[in-house]
Amino acid sequence: MPLLVAPALPAGSLGAQEQPHLPVRPGLTLRPWRDDDATAVRVAFDCPAIQRWHVRRLDGDDEARAWTAQWAGRWRAETAASWAIVDADDRPVGQVGLRDVLLTEASAQVSYWLVPAARGRGIATDALGAVTRWSFTRAGLHRLALEHSTANAASCRVATRAGFTVEGVLRESVRHADGWHDMHLHARLATGSVAHTP
Ligand SMILES: CC(C)(COP(=O)(O)OP(=O)(O)OC[C@H]1O[C@@H](n2cnc3c(N)ncnc32)[C@H](O)[C@@H]1OP(=O)(O)O)[C@@H](O)C(=O)NCCC(=O)NCCS
Repeated sequence: MPLLVAPALPAGSLGAQEQPHLPVRPGLTLRPWRDDDATAVRVAFDCPAIQRWHVRRLDGDDEARAWTAQWAGRWRAETAASWAIVDADDRPVGQVGLRDVLLTEASAQVSYWLVPAARGRGIATDALGAVTRWSFTRAGLHRLALEHSTANAASCRVATRAGFTVEGVLRESVRHADGWHDMHLHARLATGSVAHTP
């Protein structure tokens, strides 16, 4: 059955280009992950809050290396993108990226975490802003969605400050270690159109 609309973005829109380095603010940059970031990723996943909200842990250096290595293939496959948020010494302090990329709909879901020492300084908000700008102005995406547990107040602040308006609550849609969580659905559109408060 032929589709009645063409894909919003053609295949190759992401994967045919090198994953870019993106400026965030002085002393902070987004760059693709490298093998030698594995130790930093392993330490980051020791954080109980990262384990809690991303619902996974990371056991040892081999898993950490597999984690950093997966992103090049997912970029080429145009299904996901992840950037290391690095400080002025090129050390990772967090992650920001796109999941569930759908070129046909020019849409994706955003994801982020920071190591504990980097929190509370607006870094997640600014890193998300950098990915959002690139997604809309360079990658041609149309809609970015963001979901977080309604119990994750810090993530809700990041979403709101980065211009992702709330579209609703997805009731008991994601299982966490302590059971089902309601999720806030936020989104931002390339057009700048803002959702009406549900
Ligand atoms: C969510 C997270 C990325 C926020 O990073 P951050 O750089 O500290 O965020 P910012 O400094 O931009 O802003 C955080 C806001 O949340 C608030 N906040 C921080 N911790 C909070 C908490 N435990 N409860 C309520 N609010 C909190 C801050 O006061 C700030 O509010 P403000 O905008 O009114 O000043 C970081 O806490 C984190 O990595 N958490 C664990 C992983 C995670 O939750 N990932 C997101 C999954 S959806």
